[in-house]
Amino acid sequence: METGIIDGKLIASAIHVETKQEVADLKANHNLQPGLAVVLVGEDPASKVYVGMKVKKSAELGIFSKKHLLSKDSTQDQVLAVVNELNDNPEIHGILVQSPPPPQIDEAEIVRAIKPEKDVDCFHPVNVGKMLLGEEDGFLPCTPHGIMMLLERSGVDPSGKHAVVIGRSNIVGKPMMALLIQKAKGANATVTVCHSRTANIADYTKQADILIAAIGKPEFVTADMVKDGAVVIDVGINRVDDATRERGYRLVGDVAFDEVSKKCSLITPVPGGVGPMTIAMLMHNAVKACKLQNNI
Ligand code: GUN
Repeated sequence: METGIIDGKLIASAIHVETKQEVADLKANHNLQPGLAVVLVGEDPASKVYVGMKVKKSAELGIFSKKHLLSKDSTQDQVLAVVNELNDNPEIHGILVQSPPPPQIDEAEIVRAIKPEKDVDCFHPVNVGKMLLGEEDGFLPCTPHGIMMLLERSGVDPSGKHAVVIGRSNIVGKPMMALLIQKAKGANATVTVCHSRTANIADYTKQADILIAAIGKPEFVTADMVKDGAVVIDVGINRVDDATRERGYRLVGDVAFDEVSKKCSLITPVPGGVGPMTIAMLMHNAVKACKLQNNI
């Protein structure tokens, strides 16, 4: 079978072009500039890289951004104080607190402290509820929304298809299910969610027309778990030791790419698949936040 690679970098850059134009239109027509605050608590190396990428991309698109670096020993009250200040800052339309924070921080309380209209991650219960109800005046969560865009822009219509999601996290698995089952263009899938306690997981994954792996286990999905011709979306970004690489590790997804790519019709690579889409949809949400807060 001829397998196609879904090029997330290419699709994300097309979305960035659209977002950049929206930013320019906001400036020209309303004299507004979207503002995004990115808060990082602690020193997690991967989180530092992601936060740096978000700030850099904001600048490229003309979005004002502000990085808040808090020490790994920060208290809950210190983080809440930063969130409250950003809630009240009219230059800031979107607030993102990079996850996961250090263990002394109660992430659920931080998320609830962010004003829902500034919650560009769509982590706040108000926005999660709006998403589940299919209401359009909230935000969609960046990674699952990015996956919906990858499918749409690769010509994959989930309607009537069986989508199997592996993973039930609040960031990916649960909202992925919610977006795929919506009665809406680009959705209408039948969805099965598998997770760490699912018995005989391959029985489900083998039925998938669209298989979305978001379980955080390197190369968990092997060829024998995939139906011929399936569309495979790999959300995983796992560091595995590799002495042959200068940095001592390489990045692999949750899918054993070499063997699975021989069997499926379309697949996302790691890196360069889902990852770039998360940032693209975050930028999209920052612009949406600015518009919503200004009744545009
Ligand atoms: N950590 C991993 N992905 C994300 C994300 O989309 N947003 C935030 N805030 N933290 C993350």
